Amino acid sequence: MPNAFDARLAARARGAKSSAIREILKVTARPDIVSFAGGLPAPELFPLEAMRQAAARCLAEGGAQALQYGPTDGDLALRTAIAEQVTASDAAAAAAAGLPRPRAVTADEVLITTGSQQALDLVSKLLLDPDDLMVTENPSYLGALQSFRLHQARFATVAMDDDGAEPGSLREALGQDPKFVYLLPTFQNPTGRSMSTERRVQVSAILGEFGVPVVEDDPYGALYFDAPPGPSLRSLQPELTLALGTFSKTLAPGLRLGWVVGPSAVLARLTQLKQSADLHTSTLSQKVALEVMRSGMLPDHLERLRSVYAERRDAMLTAIDSYFPPSARITRPSGGMFVWVELPEGVDAARLLPIAVEQEKVAFVPGEPFHPNGGGQNTLRLNFTHTPSDVILDAVGRLGRVFERALEALPA
Ligand SMILES: Cc1ncc(COP(=O)(O)O)c(C=O)c1O
Repeated sequence: MPNAFDARLAARARGAKSSAIREILKVTARPDIVSFAGGLPAPELFPLEAMRQAAARCLAEGGAQALQYGPTDGDLALRTAIAEQVTASDAAAAAAAGLPRPRAVTADEVLITTGSQQALDLVSKLLLDPDDLMVTENPSYLGALQSFRLHQARFATVAMDDDGAEPGSLREALGQDPKFVYLLPTFQNPTGRSMSTERRVQVSAILGEFGVPVVEDDPYGALYFDAPPGPSLRSLQPELTLALGTFSKTLAPGLRLGWVVGPSAVLARLTQLKQSADLHTSTLSQKVALEVMRSGMLPDHLERLRSVYAERRDAMLTAIDSYFPPSARITRPSGGMFVWVELPEGVDAARLLPIAVEQEKVAFVPGEPFHPNGGGQNTLRLNFTHTPSDVILDAVGRLGRVFERALEALPA
């Protein structure tokens, strides 16, 4: 029987569906199941001792201040530290690409958010009215699509090749006069693809030509296995870009700490919206993260993450090459957390998920929900960072059996 709330739902909440896949994935918390489903960091690599020391120092030295309300746009010292870090990586990326050094980012161009997921929600609130058109890559990050959908956006999608969003397709989408573009140029979720430097320059020139704002989401840039990624779109197109960053994949997602870099006038508007969402991001999380940055442990910690994750990526690709049907196409990411799999047309990954979970004790995320306008039933996403290499090798073998059987069952 509908309750008193259900009878009174707002239109945006009526549209929000609970997902069958989410229900199935709940069982992946079972210890007998190997889950390649979540975008989870390896918990054994969380810098527990550094965090413990940082938290102790914050409480001992900062005292009550670490537990008090704070400013909506975030702790000034943390914003300054992030501005310095972004400026340094902008300079390094520009030098590696042979481009002029971008201007320094200042603290008033940084807004602290409660994870980058909050930034996606705030940007949606800032820019989207019901039925507004926006542009995303196809496929794109599910959590962002959920936020855009909740704000009743319509989607024009951009096709991708191995270098990320295709310029021709982007041009076509921008020609439809969208509100904004959401792009993940670096180790994209879900495909693991990354834009080459040349593609970044091309894409930012096209954005400039059309004058359409872009939200550049980059949680994975620090997790590179070969060379650091090319210049950010923001460094190439600062007036048009809101760039989202997070500590979730480098320190710990439980901190719920992210940031937006962008023009200060736009951040002032986002700050107004944030005020009604949560007043401000956790003071304690901000102070602890700042303390960790100041401790100087981050470079070594990131080096360790990169080396363990690269080894796990290798384990996953080696196992896929051995055990998946040769007709399965995969991405070979050079960073981040995900491999994207495309099975032959006619295979439905969502129908294989319960079989993989129940019969072979392995979980993945079917790819269809990552496609803003549907499609991609034959695709799926695998996470390689959360599972040790020996377990990956074995579990990918079992998943390969599920796919082989599905292919045998296809009509000839
Ligand atoms: C592309 C992308 N954006 C944003 C997020 C949200 O991250 P958080 O809110 O933890 O910063 C994620 C999390 O997996 C992600 O993959």
